[in-house]
Amino acid sequence: MEEQTLILKTAAFVKNELALAEGGHDWWHIQRVWKNAKMIAATEEANILIVELSALLHDIADSKFHNGDEEVGPAKARKFLVQEHVEEKIIQQVENIIRNISFKGGNFRSDFYSIELAIVQDADRLDAMGAIGIARTFNYGGFKNREIYNPEIQPNLNLSKEAYKNSDAPTLNHFYEKLLLLKDRMNTVTGKKLAEQRHRFMEDFLKQFYAEWGVEKF
Ligand code: ADP
Ligand code: NI
Repeated sequence: MEEQTLILKTAAFVKNELALAEGGHDWWHIQRVWKNAKMIAATEEANILIVELSALLHDIADSKFHNGDEEVGPAKARKFLVQEHVEEKIIQQVENIIRNISFKGGNFRSDFYSIELAIVQDADRLDAMGAIGIARTFNYGGFKNREIYNPEIQPNLNLSKEAYKNSDAPTLNHFYEKLLLLKDRMNTVTGKKLAEQRHRFMEDFLKQFYAEWGVEKF
């Protein structure tokens, strides 16, 4: 099959699968990550088919929404790609990217690396930062019925992968437990540059938030 046809078919599949998804992990998130990934890939030497397929399929079954099962996503992606007669070599790359893209707490380090993972991970992380990142975060907190902020519950910067995933803390804590850490975790030059700007915007947001609340800050 023509690569472009496969990509468009994948996009249609993902859009349909995510029709009822939470607003921070829905088709629009995928579309933004796809676009960011293509932009970053243009500045790197990478297999663009793997980049686009992984960007499109990376949240096809996020473990957060599947009782913590991290294999549902890769398996769903594999099933679709096999149906489309995609080469096994490519399928394995895409599966590995889906397995390893996610932020699993500040202390977690993965041992799989590919330039395509680096690109799609940066694209996904950019969408977790800035104005869009803030909007997604409060949407997720609302979805989980969490407090917006609680000055008595300090952020925990040393969460293990399990504690990070099970955290029930107020949404503002997520800035310290993940969002503000992303700037220094970017893989590519383009990703780093875009992340700086989005990082500053989040810092300004927090400053204004504390000023309005009337606290010094945490
Ligand atoms: P990754 O994209 O690294 O897999 P997640 O899917 O956990 O990360 O997070 C994607 C986005 O979902 C976060 O950037 C944030 O906006 C929101 N989110 C995830 N966990 C939380 C949380 N505990 N509190 C608030 N927002 C969250
Ligand atoms: Ni994502």
